[in-house]
Amino acid sequence: MSAHVETLRWEGGLPGHCALIEQTRLPLEEVWLRVDTVPAMHDAIKRLAVRGAPAIGVAAGYGVVLGVQNLSTQTADEVLRAALESADYLATSRPTAVNLFWALDRMKARARREHAAQRTGADLVRALHAEALLIHEEDRAMCQAMGQHGAPLIEDGMGILTHCNAGALATGGMGTALAPIYTAMAQGKRVKVYADETRPLLQGARLTVYELMKAGADVTLITDNMAASLMRTGAVDLVFVGSDRIAVNGDVCNKIGTYSVALAAREHGVPFYAVAPTSTFDPHCKRGEDIHIEEREAAEICEGFGKRTAPHGTKVWNPAFDWTPARMVSGIVCEHGLIRKPNQRRVEAVLARAGRLAAP
Ligand code: MRU
Repeated sequence: MSAHVETLRWEGGLPGHCALIEQTRLPLEEVWLRVDTVPAMHDAIKRLAVRGAPAIGVAAGYGVVLGVQNLSTQTADEVLRAALESADYLATSRPTAVNLFWALDRMKARARREHAAQRTGADLVRALHAEALLIHEEDRAMCQAMGQHGAPLIEDGMGILTHCNAGALATGGMGTALAPIYTAMAQGKRVKVYADETRPLLQGARLTVYELMKAGADVTLITDNMAASLMRTGAVDLVFVGSDRIAVNGDVCNKIGTYSVALAAREHGVPFYAVAPTSTFDPHCKRGEDIHIEEREAAEICEGFGKRTAPHGTKVWNPAFDWTPARMVSGIVCEHGLIRKPNQRRVEAVLARAGRLAAP
């Protein structure tokens, strides 16, 4: 298996803290950030120091532990109240990646369960710590499984285009869209990866290229507007992207620009796959239109990385995500296997298997 970078970890037992690689500084500086408080975790998620749907979920789980571990009175009532308040606050950090809400709901449910079982406050804190570590561990395992299920789609010598960063830096493990690539490489397949730069925050250039180069992959950087022309040359055999939320009908929400990649792939007959764990599936969201798409500051476009590139006062539209209709998706790889030509029936079957089907 190719080595991959580490994104975040819990350090120091209880009480402890979360350490995460500061992704806004990559690739030029490898700096680890120590996160000790709920507001600091909220801030880290909001400004993308930690980003990528599964990694946000793992970080949020640790965030709830930060909110309960140092209370002056540690009664069970007090710990439950602090856990629920911390979770509700962390839920306001970013709106689109459903893994955030999935992880926070899990932490809240665990706190309520332990409280209802008459556990002490100290027991509740320990249980929440264990739950956060479990979310992280499960994410690692889901990444491995997606790697195993996705790698057979890759043949020796293929060219694969990816958008944004859906690698180790976006998860608690080896990644989603990049996991099949790492697995195929470990199986001895030669893979040529094309990374979209991913305007405006350059997750492709800064993060995907960084982690693939570290893993010894053959990676070529292109700007987003080159993807269609690259496909026309015949260099791209497959598209692999991650996802921030998958609707019950199979519509796939991911980083802005993914929809354009899917349109170009359809025109050129290139199969388009999303790779995402079931924590990214939203049983309450019927279709892509229902997804809350985060809109971010104009400065990310007009003054990206400190350099002014448009006149002062320019009107800007800056959605961070888009969604691709299920009919344009060749398949979704999740930890349970490959969902070919996703539709409501097939997505619901996987949700049922994961125990996540919404009550009617
Ligand atoms: O704004 P970001 O960097 O958090 O967006 C990340 C993405 O869009 C990823 O493709 C997605 O979260 C899948 S990550 C495994």
